[in-house]
Amino acid sequence: MPDDKIENRKADHLDICINSDVESQVKTTGFEDISFIHRAIPKFKMDEIKLESLFLGYRLKYPIIIGAMTGGHSKALEFNRKLGELAEEYGIGMGLGSQRAALNNDRLVETYRIAREVAPNTFLIANIGAPQLSSLKSFELEKIINMISANALAVHLNCLQESIQLEGETSFCCLLENLNKVTREISIPVIVKETGAGICWEDAKKIEEAGVSAIDVSGAGGTSWSAVEYIRGGSELGRIFWDWGIPTAVSLIECVNSVKIPVIASGGVRTGIDIAKSLSLGANAVSISLPFLRAAAKGMHTLRNYLDNIIQQLKVTMYLIGAKTIEDLRKLPLIITGKTSEWLKLRGFDVAQYVNRKID
Ligand SMILES: Cc1cc2nc3c(=O)[nH]c(=O)nc-3n(C[C@H](O)[C@H](O)[C@H](O)COP(=O)(O)O)c2cc1C
Repeated sequence: MPDDKIENRKADHLDICINSDVESQVKTTGFEDISFIHRAIPKFKMDEIKLESLFLGYRLKYPIIIGAMTGGHSKALEFNRKLGELAEEYGIGMGLGSQRAALNNDRLVETYRIAREVAPNTFLIANIGAPQLSSLKSFELEKIINMISANALAVHLNCLQESIQLEGETSFCCLLENLNKVTREISIPVIVKETGAGICWEDAKKIEEAGVSAIDVSGAGGTSWSAVEYIRGGSELGRIFWDWGIPTAVSLIECVNSVKIPVIASGGVRTGIDIAKSLSLGANAVSISLPFLRAAAKGMHTLRNYLDNIIQQLKVTMYLIGAKTIEDLRKLPLIITGKTSEWLKLRGFDVAQYVNRKID
C-alpha cells in the first residue's frame, strides 16, 4: 500500500476511535463473571499496598502498559508526546503504534521518536504487523527498534481487521517461521499481541515455541477493529464481525495455563477492578489503549486523572480482598461463573483451581 494511503488510514482510525462507539456491543470481556471474596476485616492499611513489579526484566512502578496505538501521521506526534510524558511520570510502560509507515518515510520518524525523547527511562515497545515480517529486512527491523531505542518489539496479529478492511492483507504466510527468525535476529525481547480478538491456548503454545518472550492476549470485549473498519468503510463484513473474538478473561486464562512466558491482559481492561482480576488470574501486567487515547485527546490533566483513578481503584480492590502485593493477588481465591466458566470447562480447563486457593 502507498505510504500516503497508510498515513491517511492511520489518521482515520484515530479520529474514529476518539469520536465513535468502537467497543464490543454484545460480547463482554468476561471479567463480569469473575468475583473476589470481600473481606469485612481488613488486615493492613491501604497505604501499605505495593504495586511495583518486574516485566521482562524492567521495573514498572504500576503493572500497567499504555497499549500500542499511534504514530505515522501528523496528529500522532502530540498523542505520543502526551502518552510518553504520562508513562515517564508514573513509571508505567508504553507501546507505540505500527511503525511500518515510517520505514520508507523519514518525515514520519519523529511521530514515534518523540515518545523516547520525553520518556528516556520508560519501558517502550516498538510495533510491527505480522504480515510485514516476511518482507522485512534485518536493517529495517533495526530501524524500527532504534527509532525509539525500544526495550521490546511487539508483533501484532490482526487477521480479523485485515480480512474485513478494503485494502486488507490476508497473507500471514510462514508466520511462525518468521517469528522464530526475528526472535533469533534481534537482541530485545519479542512480544506477540492480538488486537482485540484474543489468543487461544493452542496458538499461545505455538507462539511460545517460536521463541517469543511474552504474549499480550488483547481479547474481545474492548475496542473492536471490525467496528472501526465498518465505520470507516461501511463494509457489511465489519458489522457482521463487530463482536468476533475470544473474550479477554477467557483468552487470559487459556494462555496463563498453557505457557510459561509472561502474559499481558488487554482488550477492554477499563477499571482497577479489571486490573486486579487480570493480575489475580496470572497476568504479569495489563495493557489499556482506548481510554488512554480518549483521555489524551482531552489533555494531560484528563490523562493523569484517568490513571490516578484506575490506580486508586486497584488499591481499593486489593485492600478489600486482603492483598498487599501482586504476589498476594495471585494466591487469593476467585469465583468464576457464567459464560466464562462454561467456556473454560468445555475447553478442558480446571475452573475449580481458582476457588480452591487458600484464604486466611
Ligand atoms: C487508535 C488505535 C490504534 C491502534 N493501533 C495499533 C497498532 O498500530 N498496533 C497494535 O499492535 N495494536 C494497535 N491497536 C490495538 C491496541 O493495542 C489494543 O490491542 C486494542 O485496542 C484492545 O485494547 P483496548 O480495548 O484497551 O482498546 C490500536 C488501538 C487503537 C484504539
